[in-house]
Amino acid sequence: MLRLLPGPATADVDPYEAYGDAPGLRIGMVMSADGSVTDAEGWTDGLGGAADFRVFRTLRALADVILVGAGTVRTGRLGPARLRSDLRARRGRPPAPIAVVSRSLDLDWTLPLFTEAETPTIIVTSEHARARVPSGIPVVAAGGQDIDLPSAIRRLGEEHPHGGQGRGRLLCEGGPALATALIRASLVDELCLNIAPALVAGARHTRLLGDLDAEVPLEPSALYLDEGVLFVRYRLGAAAPPRKA
Ligand SMILES: NC(=O)c1ccc[n+]([C@@H]2O[C@H](COP(=O)([O-])OP(=O)(O)OC[C@H]3O[C@@H](n4cnc5c(N)ncnc54)[C@H](OP(=O)(O)O)[C@@H]3O)[C@@H](O)[C@H]2O)c1
Repeated sequence: MLRLLPGPATADVDPYEAYGDAPGLRIGMVMSADGSVTDAEGWTDGLGGAADFRVFRTLRALADVILVGAGTVRTGRLGPARLRSDLRARRGRPPAPIAVVSRSLDLDWTLPLFTEAETPTIIVTSEHARARVPSGIPVVAAGGQDIDLPSAIRRLGEEHPHGGQGRGRLLCEGGPALATALIRASLVDELCLNIAPALVAGARHTRLLGDLDAEVPLEPSALYLDEGVLFVRYRLGAAAPPRKA
């Protein structure tokens, strides 16, 4: 992996060190150069190739909790978090739990994500819905009728401290609806965007984000290149006042 920014350019950056300064909540996603987060199959595997997977695995290994939206789980493609032996040795502890954010709890509880996870998968939902989570699955319930995302994020960070102390480092892997909700609620510190060298426009084109009601300034903090994939890290600024209609 070649580091282009901050300069001067340096080849052979170690992703684990490059991304090691994880902030409180980081979004890590891959998209095509025309902004689609899904490939022709409606999943992500065909987008970024091996270079993207290396950074994907690294971000997971650096996280204390991995957040995903229920829509992504309903694709049936998301397995339990696993760690390759080299990353496990560097992390020095089991994989971070995946935390699935769902209001409806319309989920297939027989998926390996729920039955085979080394670190049990957590459900993040509302107080209203929590009683419908099957027993044995850890729950973080925040908010009455609807999920209170700021409260859920704070709880997850407190309950999964980084290295046993301080607030945990959270990674949101998407999908677009959850990532958009987190940005709208000003909960995101960093966007790690992997831009695959492909245009996939067509029927399966799914935008990176939904509607934001205000412009969010981004400050690029790093840029890497590996096997044609551009890896951009943006710091998120405060949201600008809502646009006038
Ligand atoms: N390229 C990438 O990096 C990447 C990463 C992940 C996913 N994807 C793709 O993205 C697609 C799925 O994304 P998606 O946008 O449909 O779903 P999503 O963001 O994965 O999940 C959305 C779901 O999250 C739950 N949720 C709870 N509180 C929410 C809130 N405040 N705002 C929004 N959602 C909330 C809801 O679940 P309930 O309906 O259960 O209440 C909602 O339906 C898949 O095609 C997947 O392949 C791509």
